[in-house]
Amino acid sequence: MSDIKITPEAAIMRLPYQDWSTTSPSSIDAVAALEQGKVLFFPHLAFNLTDTEKTLLTPELADPKRKNISYQPKLQKLTGVAVEKQREAIQKLLAHHHRACQELVTSVLPEYRHTLHTPTNSLRLHPISAWKACNSWRKDDTRLHVDAFPSRPNYGERILRIFTNINPHGENRLWRVGEPFPELAQRFLPRLGRYSPLISWVQDKVGITKTRRSHYDHLMLQMHDAMKADMEYQNNGPQQAIEFPPGSSWICFSDQTPHAAMSGQFMLEQTFLLPVKAMKTPQNSPLKVLEAMLHKPLI
Ligand SMILES: [Fe+2]
Repeated sequence: MSDIKITPEAAIMRLPYQDWSTTSPSSIDAVAALEQGKVLFFPHLAFNLTDTEKTLLTPELADPKRKNISYQPKLQKLTGVAVEKQREAIQKLLAHHHRACQELVTSVLPEYRHTLHTPTNSLRLHPISAWKACNSWRKDDTRLHVDAFPSRPNYGERILRIFTNINPHGENRLWRVGEPFPELAQRFLPRLGRYSPLISWVQDKVGITKTRRSHYDHLMLQMHDAMKADMEYQNNGPQQAIEFPPGSSWICFSDQTPHAAMSGQFMLEQTFLLPVKAMKTPQNSPLKVLEAMLHKPLI
């Protein structure tokens, strides 16, 4: 399908951090690598749970209809908990995890410290296989995709995600990552359906979306679906497998880096949004790449 080979060096940058609040300066330009679409991999950055917190690692605590338990720290809003008596302990764990992620941003991505916004973090208790078994191909995250939110248009803002494997039984989290975004866009853009401002307006009015979907949001959603629907691309497209062992963490722009979560269970994840203009190299953003290819503004 493609001559492009993804090597581990092209896909991943390893960082030696062992501490979420490390102050030792690093000569590695993590922001530059991240903005090129690399996954920042911290093989030794564990999020250590107390013995009490370890008892929370059971899928029964999560609402079976949801992919995860999620927490909005600014609003102190916790959703997706099925066992009410564990609510307080879960909220405490997620609040603690969010603070650790803020410290990590300050250490590793200091340029973003004041511009990342709308944090949501999540506790993922289900094995990936269980989620895949109960959902349609569109929600099957074992297929390579870039993230796009169907109901929450983000007008080009970046989706930054910090992941940590907290599996207590030694199980790795296995991912595949794909080609650089410009190549991905070249491949899929010709196949994407036309944007209709009228349809976006109606979807907003009837409550399908929280705000009107922009042309950019339309393209990203279409790309997400087109990637997942293309089994030739899934099986033979450019990709590299990565294993994330328990006690490791990783960061990527999930709207830019094609990724697929193949197996694993028990993870903490932190999402932030970042304005394109807060990047060091805005031209690497999916928004600017797509606008350059189409020769027009998309938001
Ligand atoms: Fe994803």
